[in-house]
Amino acid sequence: MDLICKLDGSTDVYGIFGYPVKHSKSPTFQTLFFQKTNINGIYVPFEVKPENLQLAVKSLRALNIKGVNVTIPHKEEVIKYVNDVSKEVMYIGASNTLVNIDGFIKAFNTDAFGFIKGLKQLEPELAGKKVLVLGAGGASRAIIYGLINENVEKIYIANRTPQRAEKIKEDFRKLHRFIDEVIEIINFNQVEDTLNEVDIIVNTTSVGLNEDDKPLFDYEKIKPEHTVVDIIYKKTPLLQAAEKKGCKWQDGLPMLIYQGMKAFELWTGKWPEVCYEEVKNIFIAD
Ligand SMILES: NC(=O)c1ccc[n+]([C@@H]2O[C@H](COP(=O)([O-])OP(=O)(O)OC[C@H]3O[C@@H](n4cnc5c(N)ncnc54)[C@H](OP(=O)(O)O)[C@@H]3O)[C@@H](O)[C@H]2O)c1
Repeated sequence: MDLICKLDGSTDVYGIFGYPVKHSKSPTFQTLFFQKTNINGIYVPFEVKPENLQLAVKSLRALNIKGVNVTIPHKEEVIKYVNDVSKEVMYIGASNTLVNIDGFIKAFNTDAFGFIKGLKQLEPELAGKKVLVLGAGGASRAIIYGLINENVEKIYIANRTPQRAEKIKEDFRKLHRFIDEVIEIINFNQVEDTLNEVDIIVNTTSVGLNEDDKPLFDYEKIKPEHTVVDIIYKKTPLLQAAEKKGCKWQDGLPMLIYQGMKAFELWTGKWPEVCYEEVKNIFIAD
């Protein structure tokens, strides 16, 4: 797809900090957002080595770059170098979006928003639902933050390294008065028994990225009533099994697109709604 930017002396500059950054899909769809909303902006990739991150954040002020997304490996480290953080960044401990207002840089995290907005396409009402979350890495923290704010009844977390799941529960203690009732940490060998309890299954691990990854549990045990989400951007073996069972299912694209739309809104005040289907089609065709 051709994306032509009309640049002039008033064009505002946005971008993404990552290392590596070449794989990022954000420049493609953020550029589309600027075009479709008629905002005079450009969005570019910045390959920032870890040792240059502090300098890169300072450069936002020096160069009057209005905002950036932040991706691997900088999402946690970047918080040290900003003026302020949003409530969700305080809890999640990572930021994927920086906003620069006259040199004052505030860090946001739009992953929780992106995940919940995507999930609501399948499950418009999340309050009272029971959810199994596989994984306790960075993405999982954002997703659990989002689920708690939606008042789900129960979140079972299974992670290869249980200490990471325990840490999420401790870090979110101030977010929910009854966190011990909401979050239950389980082992992977308890997952199949837990399937009877839950409405929604979410894979936040990187398992499934490669076709020959060992499954996290026996996917044959999934029931047609389950809603299944994998935040990897493709139809993983977990999702293939869910589709075969007749479940409602979703890959990581809606989360990716909506986190980007929210970042765009934070920067420009405009919600690029018209772009959702178009962006999805670009990636499906990719
Ligand atoms: N759709 C989106 O917008 C979006 C956004 C962010 C991330 N993602 C995707 O989500 C995935 C996770 O990202 P992340 O940032 O959370 O990474 P991360 O912080 O490195 O966490 C990785 C998670 O995967 C688990 N894991 C890795 N290999 C495993 C294995 N062989 N068996 C069992 N568990 C394993 C880790 O368990 P341990 O704790 O035991 O190591 C951890 O829970 C990636 O595939 C990423 O591309 C998608």
